[in-house]
Order: sequence, then structure tokens, then C-alpha cells
Amino acid sequence: MSAPVLDVDAIINDRSTKIVICCGSGGVGKTTASAALAVRAAEAGRRVVVLTIDPARRLAQSLGLGALDNTPAPVTGVDTSAGGSLDAMMLDMKRTFDDVVLAHSTPEKAEMILQNPFYQALSSSFSGTQEYMAMEKLGQLHSQSEADGSWDLIIVDTPPARSALDFLDAPEHLSSLLDGRFLRLLLTPARGPFKLMSVGFNLVSSAMNKVLGTQIITDVKTFVTAFEALFGGFRARAEQTFELLSSEHTTFFVVATPERDALREAAYFVDRLTEEGMPLSGLVINRVHSSTVKVSAERALALAEDLDPADQPIEAMALQRHAALQHVIEREQVLLGRFSSSRPGVARTHVQALPTDVTDLDSLRRVGSLLSAED
Ligand SMILES: Nc1ncnc2c1ncn2[C@@H]1O[C@H](COP(=O)(O)OP(=O)(O)O)[C@@H](O)[C@H]1O
Ligand SMILES: [Mg+2]
Repeated sequence: MSAPVLDVDAIINDRSTKIVICCGSGGVGKTTASAALAVRAAEAGRRVVVLTIDPARRLAQSLGLGALDNTPAPVTGVDTSAGGSLDAMMLDMKRTFDDVVLAHSTPEKAEMILQNPFYQALSSSFSGTQEYMAMEKLGQLHSQSEADGSWDLIIVDTPPARSALDFLDAPEHLSSLLDGRFLRLLLTPARGPFKLMSVGFNLVSSAMNKVLGTQIITDVKTFVTAFEALFGGFRARAEQTFELLSSEHTTFFVVATPERDALREAAYFVDRLTEEGMPLSGLVINRVHSSTVKVSAERALALAEDLDPADQPIEAMALQRHAALQHVIEREQVLLGRFSSSRPGVARTHVQALPTDVTDLDSLRRVGSLLSAED
């Protein structure tokens, strides 16, 4: 069954598209697709900012992302003759978290939070923090472009989360962290119906103090007390950003490779986005294999068998390689066919597997034109 075609150019050239989000499992090409879309849209005349999460080092260099300063900077080498521009940045999770703290509390309180070891651990390692901070950053970039018109298109790469759902779940992560029973216990004042719990906690707390040392408990308490004041602001912003994600000006591309695991995750993601009412444009199938030589695997192997490897070792090897490639192509087609049968409405575009990694503007342009099915 053939899938509807995902018309990437129609989407990025549509001025009402303001946010594009590339999601999918790790290693499938989310960062590459985001950067390629960004270059293509900018060269078509959009004023673009791309938020990358974990660009490979050489790609980061090509985009001028040498220094991690957590704000967008212009990318040089982009053709701006159509009136567009391209700024790029990579997310610094901790800096973003620190900035939120600084923006939402008094300098003294902020200092207290920033210095707190529990905060430091949370802001640099808590699972879900990266997803949450990507959303926070998206919210900031959106507000800035609303305020001063810096950009008319924001392209967002997403973290390489094992769970493809983490990004969508980010507001919940934070809420559940802050609503969590453990923290509620810590915060419960010793009065009213909670008195018993609080007493209970103090007992636990003193037992924990003995095991863990007083300092940790004090750190957590100090942090939570200071952080509590920020809670309302954080959550309201997370909810605003979530609304932004479901807006008609936003669209999601699910990126996958034509492999079983990546397609399974993509299917899950497509279903989840649909369930949540998120605007899904379709699927980018990256690193698809193809061949211009129309000889079947069987025929190539049969030809190879007729050769004497001692006489024609190179020909024999070439035929065997061709057969192996044909097998890969056939397997990919079967997997993609199955995907389309199970989710017939989902539009798709394919990007060929290039012979080398995508690390410079030219190869990003190449990926961009493949994305838009130009060739
Ligand atoms: N179409 C492609 N052909 C060849 N290499 C690719 C292609 N797309 C991505 N890559 C390479 O695959 C690797 C993973 O891509 P990346 O975009 O970083 O994935 P993700 O962001 O999903 O983890 C990178 O080294 C990238 O250069
Ligand atoms: Mg990436």
C-alpha cells in the first residue's frame, strides 16, 4: 500500500506554520532533519531559528555552534537572497533551568536555589529535565519572536529520549516531581490533618539523617522550600508551552529509519500524538536504501556463482554486495509497507542513506531536497 506523500515544502513555505517539531527515537536523524529543514526554509525566505539538542560535533561546528551559550546565533554560509535568515542554538539544559530560576525569583532566593546541591543534581541529571527544558526554551523563543519578530519559524529538535513519550510528558514530569508524595511530605506543615504524616516524616527524616547525613536532608528541605515559590510559575509556563504544541501553527514530523525498532517507536509516537490531538504532518523515513541497478538479489547471486572467484574476485564481490543491498532494500520495503497498512492515513517522505555523515551545509541542503522529494 502506498502512503500519502508528505509535502515538506508546502509545510515550511506556509507562513502560518510557525513551529516544526522533529521527534522520534534516538539516532534516526532528528537533529539532521531539523537542521536540514532549517537551512531549506531559511533559503526559501523564512526567518528561522533552529533549536538543536545534541548535535554531533562536526555538524555543530558547521552551524557555528562552537560555544554553548544557550542563545541563538546566526549561521554563516546560508543563502539569504530570498529574504530569509537562519539562527541556530544548542540547548544547554542546566543554563536554561538556571535562567528560569533567575527570572522567577528574587536574587537572594535564586542564589539559594542555584547553590543548593539538590538543585544542582536535579538540573543536570533528572530524567525528564532535558525534555522539560527543551519545552521551556521553545516557549522562550516563541515569546521572543512574538515580541520582536526575530523569527517567523521555530524548528525544534527533540532529546534522544529512550521513551519517545518523554517530550510529550514533560509537563507531567515536572508536576509529578513537584506534586510527588516525597516532596509533599517534606513540605507538609505540622498542623491539621497532615500533622500525623508530618510527624511520621520527621521520624523517617531523623532515621534518614542518621543514614544519609544531615546535610542531604537539609539541602533537600532548603531547596524544596525555595523552589515551592517557583512552582506556580513553572507549571503555568509548561502548560502554556503544551498549548503551543497543540496549536494550529505547530506541526510535528516523526522521524524514523526503515528498521523494525525505529518504526515501532514511530508507530507509537504517531498514535500518541494523534491521541493527544497534536498536529502531526507525517513521517520522515531517513536513511532509506535504494539502487539504480535493477538486478534482483537472486540473479546477482546466480551470476556470482558462475564466476571463478580466483579469476574474477572483484566482479564476484560486487555481485555479492549488490545482492546484499537488494536484500536490505526488500526488507525496508516490506517494513514500510506494513507500517502503511497499519496506519494508512499517515503521510510519508523518504530520505536516502547518504554515503557519509551529514556534517556541513551542502549535505544539509542535499538532505533538505531529498526531504522535499525534489529528487
Ligand atoms: N540520510 C542520511 N544519510 C547518512 N547519514 C545520515 C543521514 N541522516 C543522518 N545521518 C547521520 O546519522 C547520525 C545520526 O543522526 P542524528 O541526526 O544525530 O540522529 P538523532 O538526532 O535522531 O539522534 C549522524 O552521524 C548523521 O550525520
Ligand atoms: Mg539528535
